[in-house]
Amino acid sequence: MITRTLRIDPNALDTPAAREALDRAAVVIGQGGLVAFPTETVYGLGANAFDPAAVARIFEAKRRALNDPLIVHVRAPELAAPDVGPKAALAGLWSSGVIGDLAPRQVLQASTLIGRFWPGPLTLVLPRGARIPASVTSGGDTVGVRMPHHPIALALLERAGVPIAAPSANLFGHVSPTSAQHVLDDLDGRIDLLFDGGPTMIGVESTVLDLTGAGPRILRPGGAPRQEIEACIGPLLPAEAPGVALRSPGLLEKHYAPRAALKVLPDLESIRTALEIAGGAGRRVGLLLNTSDRAAFPDALPAFVLGDTPEAMARDLYAGLRALDDAGADIILCRAVSGPGLAEAIADRLRRAAR
Ligand code: TXA
Ligand code: MG
Repeated sequence: MITRTLRIDPNALDTPAAREALDRAAVVIGQGGLVAFPTETVYGLGANAFDPAAVARIFEAKRRALNDPLIVHVRAPELAAPDVGPKAALAGLWSSGVIGDLAPRQVLQASTLIGRFWPGPLTLVLPRGARIPASVTSGGDTVGVRMPHHPIALALLERAGVPIAAPSANLFGHVSPTSAQHVLDDLDGRIDLLFDGGPTMIGVESTVLDLTGAGPRILRPGGAPRQEIEACIGPLLPAEAPGVALRSPGLLEKHYAPRAALKVLPDLESIRTALEIAGGAGRRVGLLLNTSDRAAFPDALPAFVLGDTPEAMARDLYAGLRALDDAGADIILCRAVSGPGLAEAIADRLRRAAR
């Protein structure tokens, strides 16, 4: 089976062809099928979040571990109303059975964050609602919820009329997809429909923020910067030590990984040394470099060049890892990244992809 790919322009969804494509996707979702679609972070693999059989198909298609809960994507039309929007959005999620009863503190934190970040790359972990099947949350009593900031994702949610459970549209453990081709490379034939809306804008996944613990805590750094979240709701609890508790299996140490062995090194000198050693051992090396570092290495070496800003790096990071895999690299060498905001998410993914 070949997955049907529909190419649509995210900025021209009012054409007959786009409308027909969206209607077709809504039917697939309604019938319990799988639709892959772009979000502003990465491509998602979506199914009706209220339908346990459809949700089971997501796990099967991705070969995903059953103990890794899914993010539920929602549309919150209430946000259009100024001032009352975020609280009305929460009330809407509660009455539709996506989230459960919230403590006053959770209402305050969630509504402040929703007002600031939605639609956008922030997933809130909240008490699970009555209509969310246990398989979505891997049996847990919390659910991750976010409103994506992408015209195709939002139009699909509107047409489908149900919340859409969607992990990243890659095989479990692999690098997340930031283009439709990446989705096909991993999942062609395993899903019913794919929207090709071009490359995604942010390039790394959403920040996952748990509001159900003793205090708010980031489970996965991502597109929404820690500093901006703290500016909204005050200091967060420190990240849990890796591997301590399986609050979020996206925190698995080995995840988001290319086939090649990724080595993250502190500086150009150590990249040069590693290059010599690997070359001497006959291994094929690929370099993942910033624009400003490219000149330090011979042109003949396979390299993927990322921009110099964290935004540019995040956007192309996964394409770079996939491209160097495709180029046949056994080892990928890159320089460590540090800093606030998106740099924190990039550093986290590089660390988990490395071995
Ligand atoms: O940007 C994104 O978040 C993308 C797009 C498609 O929205 N989605 C995504 O989904 O990255 P996924 O399944 O690849 O990663 C979701 C992460 C996992 O680490 C999962 O463990 C965590 O969110 N998660 C989901 N629900 C959770 C919950 N109830 N409690 C703790 N962690 C949760
Ligand atoms: Mg994923």
